[in-house]
Parts: sequence; C-alpha cells; structure tokens
Amino acid sequence: MKFSISLIVCLLLFTCHNPNKTHQNTTSQYHIIPKPVSLKMQDGQFVIDSNTSISRGTDLENEGQYLADMLSHITGKSIDFNTDTTGNIQLKLDDAIENKEGYELSVTYDAIIISGKNATGVFYGIQTLRQLMPASIESESKQITTVSIPAVHIKDHPRFVYRGMHLDVARHFFPVEFIKKYIDLLALHKMNTFHWHLTEDQGWRIEIKKYPKLTEVGSKRYGTLIGHHPGTGNDETEYGGFYTQEEVKDIVKYATERHINVIPEIELPGHGSAAIAAYPHLSCFPDEPTIVFDNMGSKAGKEVQRSGTPKIVQETWGVFDDVFCAGNEETFQFLEDVFAEVIPLFPSEYIHIGGDECPKSNWERCSPCQKRMKDNGLVDEHELQSYFIHRIERFLNANGKKIIGWDEILEGGLAPNATVMSWRGEEGGIAAAKQNHDVIMTPGHSCYFDHYQTADNMSEPLAIGGKTTVADVYAYEPYPDELTGEARNYILGAQANVWTEYMKTSDQVEYMILPRMTALSEVVWAPIENRDWADFRVRLNSLKERYETMGLNYAKHVFKIKIDSLENVQ
Ligand code: ACM
Ligand code: ZN
Repeated sequence: MKFSISLIVCLLLFTCHNPNKTHQNTTSQYHIIPKPVSLKMQDGQFVIDSNTSISRGTDLENEGQYLADMLSHITGKSIDFNTDTTGNIQLKLDDAIENKEGYELSVTYDAIIISGKNATGVFYGIQTLRQLMPASIESESKQITTVSIPAVHIKDHPRFVYRGMHLDVARHFFPVEFIKKYIDLLALHKMNTFHWHLTEDQGWRIEIKKYPKLTEVGSKRYGTLIGHHPGTGNDETEYGGFYTQEEVKDIVKYATERHINVIPEIELPGHGSAAIAAYPHLSCFPDEPTIVFDNMGSKAGKEVQRSGTPKIVQETWGVFDDVFCAGNEETFQFLEDVFAEVIPLFPSEYIHIGGDECPKSNWERCSPCQKRMKDNGLVDEHELQSYFIHRIERFLNANGKKIIGWDEILEGGLAPNATVMSWRGEEGGIAAAKQNHDVIMTPGHSCYFDHYQTADNMSEPLAIGGKTTVADVYAYEPYPDELTGEARNYILGAQANVWTEYMKTSDQVEYMILPRMTALSEVVWAPIENRDWADFRVRLNSLKERYETMGLNYAKHVFKIKIDSLENVQ
C-alpha cells in the first residue's frame, strides 16, 4: 500500500512537473566558441534519446545527414531524418534571416528548430547545438543513451566572410586522414576556408597527369635538414608524399559537405625548386646545380647532382634564387597546363598563386628574362614579376577563377582583380584596400601559428621563432585603424598560416593550432563588442574538455595562467 501511494505521487509529480520543462540551467552549459551574436538562456531541457527524429527542408539533405550521424553516434541507435514535419528537431531555411551564413537556434523542452538563410547557416546552427551538448558526445567509443540540451534562443551570424586556416603540406606532408581531421576542426569553429599550400621548394604535392615527373621526382627529397636552420646536418632519409587527383576530389567533397571552401595554392614564380627539379627547363639556368645552403645537402642528393640532373628538390628551408624563368614561354605553357588540371578539382572561385619571396637575381642575369623586360617596357624585375602575375591572372580569370597572392604581388603593380593576402604585417593589406582590392589579413605577429606560443621557448618543441600567444591572437583586430569608411569593406577577413618546416607530425600541427585557432575563430566570427578575453578563457576551459575527448594534442599554456594575472600572458 505504502509503495503504491508513493508510486502515484511520483507519477503525479512527473506529469504535472516535467523536470525537462522547468529545469534551471547554469551559464556553464552555454559555453560556445565562437561566441554567438545573441544568446538568451531559458529554463528547461530537450532530451535526445532514441525517440528523437529530424525533419529537414528539401534542400538540407546534407545537413540532415550530418546531424543524424552525430546523434546516431550519441544514442547508438539510427536516428531518422525525413522531409515531413513530424520530427522534434527541425532544420529549415528562412529567407527572413539577413546574413548569408546566419542562423537561429531555438531549443525548448519539446523541440529544436534550426533555421538558416542557407544550408550554411543551418550547418553552423548544428555546430552550435553540438557545443551545447556535453563534451562526452565527442568520444569515438562511448555511446551515451541520453543527452540533455539546455533551452536557449540564439541568433547568430559571422562578422567576416573570410575565416581561414592555411596548411603547408609541402615542407612536411600530411595524409588524407589528417587533412579531413583538420577540416573537421575548422567546421567545429565555423571557419569557412581551408587554404591548402600544395607546392614548394621542398616538395610538389598534387598529381598533375600531363607532368608525371612533378610527383615522380618533385614530391621526394633525399633528406631533410636536422635542427633549426641553418641546421646541424642532413638526416639522409628520403621524404615524400603527394595527393592523387582522386584524393583531392575526395577531400574537396568532404570539405564542401562541411561548408568549407578549399583554396589550392600553386606557388609562382618563386618557391618552385621541386617543379624545377622535375622539369629543369623551367629555370633560367637549367644546367646550374641547385645550391644547397651551408653544405647541408644529403649525400644522395649530391650524388644525383653529379650523375644526372643538376637540379634537386630542396632539403633545407629558406628562400632560393632558382625561380621560374619569366622570359621563357614554356614556363607559362607549363603553368597554364597545371592550372588546367587544378581548376576542375576545386569549385573555389579563388586560386592562390603565391607570389611571395621571389628573388630577382636569376632574372637579372637571364637573357630571355631581360629580353622580356625590354620588349614589354618593364623598368625593373619587380615589374617583370608583376607581368608574370598579370599573365597568370588573365589566364585564370578567363577560366572563371580569381587570384589571391601574398602581398609581394603589390610590387611592380597589382594585377587588376587580385585579392591580397597581407602577411608582412598589415601594410600590404592597407595599401591594397586603398587601391580598392580585396584583402585577407594574415599578419605574422597575430596569425603565424608556426611561431612559439610562449616566451619560454626552451621547454617548447622546436619552432621557427617569434612569439604569438593565444592572447595575441585573441587581441587581433582585422580592420586596421588606418582604414576607415568604404575602404574597410575590402577587408574580407583573416586567416592563420601554418608553415610546417618544424612540424613533422600531425600531432605537432594540432599543438600549434590549438587553442590559437579557437581564439582566431572568435576574432573572425563574433561582433567586436562580444569579445572579452576573461569570458573567452572561461568558455575555452569547456572547449578544452572537447579537445580532450577528441584526443587532440593542444597547447596548455593558456590554461595555466590565473585569470587575475592576464598581463603575464603577453
Ligand atoms: C610567407 O610566409 N612567405 C607568405
Ligand atoms: Zn629567365
């Protein structure tokens, strides 16, 4: 008797006082990075279990599938998604949302509604929903049967249209699996661009069918410098790797499903030693041996130079004089052929053509280069570089693509439609914006994630140098003070660059980008008035749990500093 009375009381309590409807949530349940434009906490919780199902708008199959996969993984049961309206999670398009990437997320005890202007906004709404769930959902192995999501109303959109991460896969090569993991990390942070640096002096990493030696020869080096440049020797170990065109397509598809645009970079006219090793006629001086600084070349490399082609793929880091010849028509034929194969692989409207760090000494002593200058009335080698970039731009524009180049493309005159990536500080970006050209900010002081992340370098894994802390990244403002009014509209956003001379493993890449990328994601997404370093650090502590559950190798410095001694971070 006693038992049945308490049962009835319990049932009454449950039906009259559903705990999920009135549950009091705490602010720590709303730790989202990047911080949304507006977030209103509410009482109550939505519980995800095996009764949860998703309804999605007709154009949202990809997003429905993404969310269904995520929730199925959580519950261990296949979650339905369909186009009727019966699901208690609804994904839909809403034209009333203004921003192209904007979304709204409403969570109540009995429904979740994610609306986006476009599918991209819906995808970002799903990423926010993901961060409202406990970090344990990120576990590969664990299946959690129920997950509660705190009730909320969020309206959100990004501050900048370009939110990028670069990765140099040439100095060190990273397998397809890691590139996908990198893309997944970008998606978690609502970054929308992956700048894939595919060609360099130390390796050519993309299959080009018309020029098989680019990968047969150009993707391998006979050894790599040991230690920090100028180094203590050569490891005498062959190193290489490249992506087939099928792998490239697979990666681009994977990124597209995550609303990430992949911009390939094919470097010209400098940083071309690997292509020149494969096809020496691209050099001004095909018979001159590749110079390996400080006698740090491998024995095998020297042997090859003695017995066959004098050109080898570089084994040390730096900037090299042996660049593409600007006087030889075959150089342009080669590059156009390469782009003819690259263009169909990448839906991106942009192709990055490099343009940085191109020494002019070979052009100064090369007769075809000098003839080209004379014939075209070019006063110096900077104008010759500008001629080179203009020609490539004309070809790419004619084939439906726009170019991005590092800020050196300003020297000698900017190509008419070029976007400038400002890396030597912000000056190049400011100059380009004043000339009405689009700009992406990647200044070294705030956006070079190959820098050390603390003053205490001695206890850190070897890095190139510099110091860019998480706080430095967080404090970065992509709009320079000097630009006002209309000129600011040319600043499309910002990007961090990840040059991998000193990142031999994917673990090390993770260490260098986390949590600096997390800080950058808030810089490029959140309204400036929402940027608050102390508040960010509190939210970062929650995201850290997600890094840990995902098994990511992240840098710990920022978590060791007391909130009341923030000045020490600098
Ligand atoms: C660069 O860091 N050389 C663009
Ligand atoms: Zn030349």
